Amino acid sequence: MFRGALARLAAQYFVLLVLILGCFDLIVYFTVSEALQTKADNDLRLAIGQANKDFAVTGDTVTFNGQGLLDPSVADTFIRVLDIKGQEQGQPRPELKKLFNDPSLSAPIAAAKAGRTVDTRVSNATDLYVVDTRPILNPKSHKVVGVLQVAQPVSWVDDALSGLVRQLVVASAIGILLGALASLLMASRSLRPISRAFQRQREFVADASHELRTPLTLIRTNVEAWLRRANGSNRAYASSIVEEVEQLSRIVGDLTTLALADAKQLRIDREPVELNDVVRDLMTQTEPLAEERGVRLRPDLNGGVRVEADLLRVRQLLLILIDNAMTHTPSGGEVSVGVIRRDGRARVTVADNGDGIPSADLPHIFERFYRADKARTRENGGSGLGLAIAKWIVDAHNGEIVVKSAEGKGTEVAVSLPVLD
Ligand SMILES: Nc1ncnc2c1ncn2[C@@H]1O[C@H](COP(=O)(O)OP(=O)(O)OP(=O)(O)O)[C@@H](O)[C@H]1O
Ligand SMILES: [Mg+2]
Repeated sequence: MFRGALARLAAQYFVLLVLILGCFDLIVYFTVSEALQTKADNDLRLAIGQANKDFAVTGDTVTFNGQGLLDPSVADTFIRVLDIKGQEQGQPRPELKKLFNDPSLSAPIAAAKAGRTVDTRVSNATDLYVVDTRPILNPKSHKVVGVLQVAQPVSWVDDALSGLVRQLVVASAIGILLGALASLLMASRSLRPISRAFQRQREFVADASHELRTPLTLIRTNVEAWLRRANGSNRAYASSIVEEVEQLSRIVGDLTTLALADAKQLRIDREPVELNDVVRDLMTQTEPLAEERGVRLRPDLNGGVRVEADLLRVRQLLLILIDNAMTHTPSGGEVSVGVIRRDGRARVTVADNGDGIPSADLPHIFERFYRADKARTRENGGSGLGLAIAKWIVDAHNGEIVVKSAEGKGTEVAVSLPVLD
């Protein structure tokens, strides 16, 4: 029961952890990426500031007096100066030619001649550059007299970011792995006290119902002794008390069984059991009751269906089912109990042509104290614990129990158990 809760709680802790890790990764990535981008922008601005000192404008001509290289702080930044006709000024350096002759730069050059500044990304064999292409203006007339291009490498930004992503992925993977373990540990720690309290509660219920049995037996023995001697109105009282005490004993017995089962204090003593023998036996045992109620009992046996089971529990299971069938079948009806081996499973079916169960009640009949027809079953003495015990017995034997019912037509309960070869 707690295993499901443990898994759910651990999963919640885990999802929370993954979300926190994910947020952390995103924040780190964006902060670093922004810082690097700002640094690249600042470098470019610095380089443009320096490049402005590398040429002189006289009238409509521009003369380049640098070498296309800047001072050490921006050493890998290159510059080029063009006059208004697009002629390169100064000594063109061969290694810069390829970079600056990239076809994607012709549009920016045209734009610069028209007075606009454009940043373009251009890559040569080794690096990715941002090329800032801007107009050179005559300071007095503000006429465009040439074009300045400043190229600065930016692949280090992407390289640094992909390095960061790799490290974040590895760190997060380790974090997720450790987080899964920690989630399980934390969940089991938080559930431990609840599970302990629950187990104590179960044991308490089991002990309490067990303790009730002895005084009940004593009361019953004494009232029965009284009933034997009583006469007149006393007799009616005594027999009513006997009836009630019998009912109470049955309920306490059933409750004890369920409480002990919950507290895992009930043993299942498995032995090879021939189901046909069990059913034949039970038929003989229940025949008088069936006769009294006017119900016909019909066995449908097929020999050789053996299971590994606790004989007493299997008898208890079938008695619960036969008792239900007989209780809900009016006089003149029929209850059939079949045993068959099918698809490697042992199948016992208890079918009746009695009242049936309303479909609204069908999903609930295995619940404790659930009775479909409360008024009627009260007078029949049912407490609604029979099928809950039946379900426990079937589960304890790794079996399955399925109820099919049509109101007014009848009910069929099929139990399937692993067969013993
Ligand atoms: N064969 C059946 N035909 C019609 N209704 C059934 C049949 N078997 C079970 N039910 C319905 O399911 C309910 C639950 O059955 P269950 O055996 O758990 O309790 P109960 O028979 O009322 O009481 P208990 O078995 O504890 O004496 C019953 O009250 C009844 O309404
Ligand atoms: Mg019952």
